[in-house]
Amino acid sequence: MIFDFDKEVNRKGTSSVKWEAYPPFVTPAWVADTDFEVAPAIIERIQKRLTHPVFGYTTDLPALKEAIQKRMFNRFGWKISDESIVLVPGIVAGVNFAVRAFRKDGDSVLFQQPAYPPFFTAPANNHAEPIISTMIYNSDSRLYETDFDEFESKIKDNTSMFILCNPQNPTGRVYSRDELLKLAEICERHQLTICSDEIHNEIVYQESKHIPIASLSPEISRSTITFIAPSKTFNIPGMYCSAAIIEDETMRNNFQKALAGLSSGVTLLSQEAALAAYTECDDWLVQNNRYLQENRDFVLSFIREEIPAVVANDIQATFLSWMDFSAFAGMIDPYEFFLNEAKIAFNNGLTFGEPYSQFIRLNFGTQRHNLENILTRMAETLKKFGYI
Ligand SMILES: Cc1ncc(COP(=O)(O)O)c(C=O)c1O
Repeated sequence: MIFDFDKEVNRKGTSSVKWEAYPPFVTPAWVADTDFEVAPAIIERIQKRLTHPVFGYTTDLPALKEAIQKRMFNRFGWKISDESIVLVPGIVAGVNFAVRAFRKDGDSVLFQQPAYPPFFTAPANNHAEPIISTMIYNSDSRLYETDFDEFESKIKDNTSMFILCNPQNPTGRVYSRDELLKLAEICERHQLTICSDEIHNEIVYQESKHIPIASLSPEISRSTITFIAPSKTFNIPGMYCSAAIIEDETMRNNFQKALAGLSSGVTLLSQEAALAAYTECDDWLVQNNRYLQENRDFVLSFIREEIPAVVANDIQATFLSWMDFSAFAGMIDPYEFFLNEAKIAFNNGLTFGEPYSQFIRLNFGTQRHNLENILTRMAETLKKFGYI
């Protein structure tokens, strides 16, 4: 079946965070969901469940856990057991539960910036101190990379966890096997639990390959909690159906204790949606990723040709483009400038870390004509003010 990703979808009036946070005359290009219709199989499965008139307390669907196991094996060669899977209502919640489960009061938790904003608050929410390592932009590879010496130098005696984001938001980086091995080796040396947020693991472009860090060896897996979800992949983030994968039994028990009384698992309809996504929607996903890859190429060539002073790094995964407007420092604050003068809402770079006030993040998970309109308005507004 052919899916039409160019099809206009009016999301106004649907309680969409992306479309309703700003006034109606502002074009939203921020929060990370896409404007595409989901695969029909997801809707059909939810509709089918609605034909039964009772919605009582639910178990975890055994078929969903089986689908997760199969998917991890088929996609990444990662063999996991049924027991290792714990369903959680969203990955932000999951990361917070993980910090709660694996730190002692007063510990510190390490992560890399630019960082997905909830990583800044997860340690503080759970009586731990955030410790930040800064990724380096390599202008030859056009990728953000880890400076391993700097990374290791940030670890303190009381650091108990590293939150990895792979593929990385906002830089769209897919970590290589070598990088993952080095990170794991440093974490092992300092006895850090690895909390690996892999929510973007299936929006990965042709030339890159995602590797779950826990799949690298049984030793690494023993100290790793991995989060996955169909939410970004199949555009169902409002369903909040995610999974923690924890192969070590003691770790898993500790995680379950941290959930006690705070999470009742994942709702029935969300599990049905996730099950359909993981078992019936692969042809949709292939077309979705092809469309997103063309959008990605369009964004990067537009920016590099029309606004060459902006540094737009290569994007290996995600539908997010991280753009550095440092060349315009002293002239514009890019987030405020585009919001006020072009009426486009991007994510403000500052929310990804203190050094990034001259950055914005663009969500290119939208219809091509909308994307063209956003990029053209960016360039025209900069021209109008004489900046390019
Ligand atoms: C790296 C990362 N983790 C987690 C989330 C959100 O997870 P959830 O909506 O399941 O809490 C996002 C959403 O953008 C993300 O980019």
